[in-house]
Order: sequence, then structure tokens, then C-alpha cells
Amino acid sequence: MRGIILAGGSGTRLRPLTSVHSKQLLPVYDKPMIYYPLSVLMQAGIREILLISAPEHLEAYRSLLGDGSRLGISLSYTVQQEPRGIAEALVIGGPFTAGEDVCLILGDNIFYGHRLPDMLRQEARRLDGCTLFGYPVSDPERYGVASVAEDGTIATLEEKPARPASNLAVTGLYMYDADAANRAARLTPAARGELEITDLNLTYVREGRARLVGLGRGSAWFDTGTHDSLLEAAMFVQVLEKRQGIRISCLEEVAYRMGYVGREQLALLGKEISASSAYGRYVMELANA
Ligand code: TTP
Repeated sequence: MRGIILAGGSGTRLRPLTSVHSKQLLPVYDKPMIYYPLSVLMQAGIREILLISAPEHLEAYRSLLGDGSRLGISLSYTVQQEPRGIAEALVIGGPFTAGEDVCLILGDNIFYGHRLPDMLRQEARRLDGCTLFGYPVSDPERYGVASVAEDGTIATLEEKPARPASNLAVTGLYMYDADAANRAARLTPAARGELEITDLNLTYVREGRARLVGLGRGSAWFDTGTHDSLLEAAMFVQVLEKRQGIRISCLEEVAYRMGYVGREQLALLGKEISASSAYGRYVMELANA
């Protein structure tokens, strides 16, 4: 399975923070936002990853993350000329996925949960059609909302419904079979002029080949699209990290624990970040543990 991170968009709700910066490079406590979705893909065992962003921001991602070899993964980069919808990521990524299954994640979505990596690996293995990940929310009318049949397939899927059929919001993490790029290319833009991800997902729902996997109560999901949600996500990360003495979505640690890099490379990565940064020292200490 290959991975795509979509990190474009206009970020209008976060202006002026996003007037010159890419939203997904903004800090979430101690690291750039993009680290969180990237760490999810890495923990799912996905090592070939395409990052898609706006023309004016792509170089910043490249200079932050490079070709991925330092982390034992392969990163490539492509432009989305304009924010023409989330489903366009699969069209743009078509040549990259080249007939393989794909996991798409939005660059501003933060997931945390101790069983999440295992669950993603399991779902990647059993994928047939498309798999979406649902999270219970108190305000489902703001999201894509799914209702689920007894066998786990999605019965209904609606974008921002006035009367939601359930409280399960569809998160920004999606797994698709190799046909997704073709299906996305056949979509017609919706009223907002965008290729809607819900329309792509509905093509699988109609065939009974869309599953919804619930992220349980023990997990957290944030989208960081507003000033408040960005701060809340940062505070969540700060509280957990301080309390447990660990770091969430530390790419260097994930690469080491997944076996993508060895201890020597980990030490080098820590040194490169800098001993004057607590994050850098954390990586160095891991290498010496
Ligand atoms: P949104 O939050 O829907 O949009 P946005 O990030 O442009 O923000 P705003 O509503 O404040 O203007 O997008 C969700 C994620 O998907 C976000 O990470 C940006 C990304 N995205 C793209 O990269 N390209 C697109 O065409 C769209 C629609 C979204």
C-alpha cells in the first residue's frame, strides 16, 4: 500500500496564520503539523509516500523532509495547482499509486490512540474497495456522516447532513483499492467546484464495498482547521507528552521503532535537530537508551 498526504488547501479559516505559511507546517506544540499524519502512515507500515501541496509551499516541505531516506522511507512531492477538492489528490497521485492500494490522509488531521497502528495494518491487509474511519462527535452536521450496517459496511453516507443518521464523522483518513484514481477522475465537480471525497466514497458505498471502522473511545482525532482547534490539539499533545515523558508522532522515533533506521542513524538525526532543543535531546536519549 502506498500513502498520499494532502497538504494544500486555502486555510482561510486560519488567516492571518496562513496568509504566507502553509497550514500544515504550522506548529502543533513541538513539531510541525505535517509530522502527525506522516507518522500515522509510517506506523501503518507505509514507506512510499507522496506529499501534495500548493505550488508556493511545496519547496518548504521538501526542505523540511527531503527525500525521506534519513527516516528510511521514500518521499516524493507533487503540486495541486488549486484546491479543487480532496478527491483530486487521487487523480494527481494516480501515476504514483500505479495500480496499488492507497492510504490517503489529510495533512491537518491528528490521530492518536495506542492500538491505531495495529488496526491500520490490519485494515490495509483486509481492504476490499474502500475503508473509512469514523469518530463519534457531538456535532456530526459539520462533517461527512456515515451509518453502518451490521456487517460493518456503510449503509448511508452524507456530507454535512441537516439531520445526521448517526454521530459518526468520517475522518480524514481513507484506504482505497487500486481503482480509486480512475473513479476520482470520473467524478464531476460538486456545487463548490470541488471533487468531493464523499462522492468518491459513495461510488464504493453503492456497491456495498465501503467499510467503516470506528476509532474507539480510547483514541483522539483532531482536525486543526480553526484557531481554537489548533490550540486544543497543541494542548492535548503538551499534556500527554509532559505527563508521560514521551513524544507523540516523533518521526525519528517512529522510524527507529518500525525498524526503518538503526540506532546510529537515530543518534545522528537527534544531533542534526540540535541538543538545545528538548525534541532533539529526546531523540538522542532514545538512541542511547
Ligand atoms: P479544508 O479544511 O476543507 O480546507 P482548507 O484547509 O483549505 O481550509 P479552509 O476551510 O479554512 O479554507 O481541507 C481539509 C484538508 O484538505 C486540509 O488539510 C487542506 C486539504 N485540501 C487540499 O489540500 N486540497 C483541496 O483541494 C482541499 C479541498 C483540501
